[in-house]
Amino acid sequence: MKTRVLILGAYGMLGHALQYVFPEAILKGHDLDITDEHAINDFIEELHPSIVINAAGYTDVDGCEDNREQAFAVNGESLQYISCACNEVGAVLVHYSTDYIFNGSKMGYVEDDIPDPINAYGESKLLGEMNIINNMENYRMIRTSGLFGEHGKNFVDTILTLSAQFPEVRVVNDQTTKPTYTVDLAKKTLEIISLIPGIYHGVNEGTCTWYEFACDFIPNAVPCTTAEFPRKAKRPHCSVLTNTKITQFRHWKPALNEYLINKKTHSTGYPR
Ligand SMILES: NC(=O)c1ccc[n+]([C@@H]2O[C@H](COP(=O)([O-])OP(=O)(O)OC[C@H]3O[C@@H](n4cnc5c(N)ncnc54)[C@H](OP(=O)(O)O)[C@@H]3O)[C@@H](O)[C@H]2O)c1
Repeated sequence: MKTRVLILGAYGMLGHALQYVFPEAILKGHDLDITDEHAINDFIEELHPSIVINAAGYTDVDGCEDNREQAFAVNGESLQYISCACNEVGAVLVHYSTDYIFNGSKMGYVEDDIPDPINAYGESKLLGEMNIINNMENYRMIRTSGLFGEHGKNFVDTILTLSAQFPEVRVVNDQTTKPTYTVDLAKKTLEIISLIPGIYHGVNEGTCTWYEFACDFIPNAVPCTTAEFPRKAKRPHCSVLTNTKITQFRHWKPALNEYLINKKTHSTGYPR
């Protein structure tokens, strides 16, 4: 029987990259609201997919502090009935989680480290993880960080815009991460689906602060501290994910290069 793939949140940044890796997938955006339990149950029951990829999420980290209810509904509670619906039809559930479920006090988190989120976004994403783990076995939970890619609001585009507008761009130099290209993550998702159920860390290789990352693509970045650049949500100081279970991604530098070239050439096709 043919594998039927359903992508939820298909029109977000990662969702767009997934569309190219799964060209025959059924795509759902806000026309299937993942906070609508009945709509989710009915759709999955009727479609009977073999794989459900959930790329939907409430990803505005500062916004989650003000809109906790929505954050928990989208990122947390929905995974309770999405996982049950997948169970009912025997579908694999692929779900994306975040480095922000960790508190940032350790250099390099492996897949079975204990989560301890320090902001509402991280708490809501952790609830999503727990709902999946407690409800089903056939899941692939892919934690990622610092996503950049086409069709979405991301750090690279924001900093490029600021760099063109202002003589200097202040960027925090005391938060360390692993920036990750959506195209690389989408391709790796295909590999992870063929592996055993569990939690995977899906990130490009290479650790850097946001300032170091910015220096790679703008000339006028200036380092600052988190204290000098207060935000609504607290951020972990070091949310580096270590991948111990799957083949390594390439370094973020060639991935960033590819993204910038694709942006420049206004490529609309699948970035190679
Ligand atoms: N971006 C990052 O740096 C990052 C880092 C770590 C993990 N992740 C995780 O990776 C996944 C994909 O992130 P992304 O950057 O691609 O996010 P994104 O660009 O914000 O895409 C998420 C998509 O979900 C949609 N959505 C929101 N609420 C929905 C609902 N109730 N029903 C259906 N769709 C809904 C959004 O639509 P609207 O925009 O129209 O609301 C958007 O199209 C998320 O699970 C996120 O938590 C992201």
